[in-house]
Amino acid sequence: MAGLILSALQWLQTKVTTRAHRLLLRVLAAGPVPRHVAFVMDGNRRYARINHKKVAQGHADGYQALRRVLEICLRLNIKCVSVYAFAIENFKRSPEEVQALMELCQLKMLELCEHGDLLQEYGVRLNIVGRTDLLPEDVLAAVQRAQDLTKHNNRSILNVCMPYASTEEITTSVETCVREALESKDLNITTTAIEKNLRTTLAGSPPLDIIIRTSGVKRLSDFFLWQSCEGVQVQFSDAYWPDFGLFDFIPIILDFQRRAWQTSV
Ligand code: FPP
Ligand code: MG
Repeated sequence: MAGLILSALQWLQTKVTTRAHRLLLRVLAAGPVPRHVAFVMDGNRRYARINHKKVAQGHADGYQALRRVLEICLRLNIKCVSVYAFAIENFKRSPEEVQALMELCQLKMLELCEHGDLLQEYGVRLNIVGRTDLLPEDVLAAVQRAQDLTKHNNRSILNVCMPYASTEEITTSVETCVREALESKDLNITTTAIEKNLRTTLAGSPPLDIIIRTSGVKRLSDFFLWQSCEGVQVQFSDAYWPDFGLFDFIPIILDFQRRAWQTSV
């Protein structure tokens, strides 16, 4: 009997907490909200180590955090969320870790996009941003299928950057600009043209408003270097990515709203 009452109380507490969180998000969404927020999801392995888990489990818990944070963003009506899921540099990690990350992406990307799951519920289009030609064939097939499942969604965008490097993105864009300039014989290469040919712009992303890196590390590590150059709020959070949640995010949003109100007066 006592067990039954305890379970009922726990259920009630979850319900109340969920309702309170949703109400809080609705209040925040009434103010100015960023259009585009990017996350450097860092700290999965340190989180795994201190919680006596395997590295692969740290990344799997990181995926659960991604779902949680994405839903918070969508409830706030943020139009575009970008996440750094795999750096080109990450191919240098141990073959076991690379394989675990690839398997996670292969499985979970499809899960996210299936009927009834998060991206369909909120009308989110998935873009894989980066050197997809470097992905193993089966992973590439899975992520292409996942993108396909969401290609008609138009309420929001999720950019999963993998395998990604900002310097590669900029170099590729410059290459395209040079090719176009040579074809048109107008050798004037502008920042507007470079911006237009970035992988993120081609994927339809609005300008970046906030970039957040977790795990207490204060570097951008070849992520969104071009996108972060003007008026972007750069935030560093001490939480390891799998632990990052609503109460780490709220102060960042409040800071954005304070700045937005300051510049509008
Ligand atoms: C950085 O932490 C994290 C990664 C290299 C992987 C991020 C991937 C996920 C959160 C899963 C994403 C899943 C999908 C389906 C998109 P780290 O490994 O550098 O940890 P450390 O900083 O503690 O060493
Ligand atoms: Mg790291």
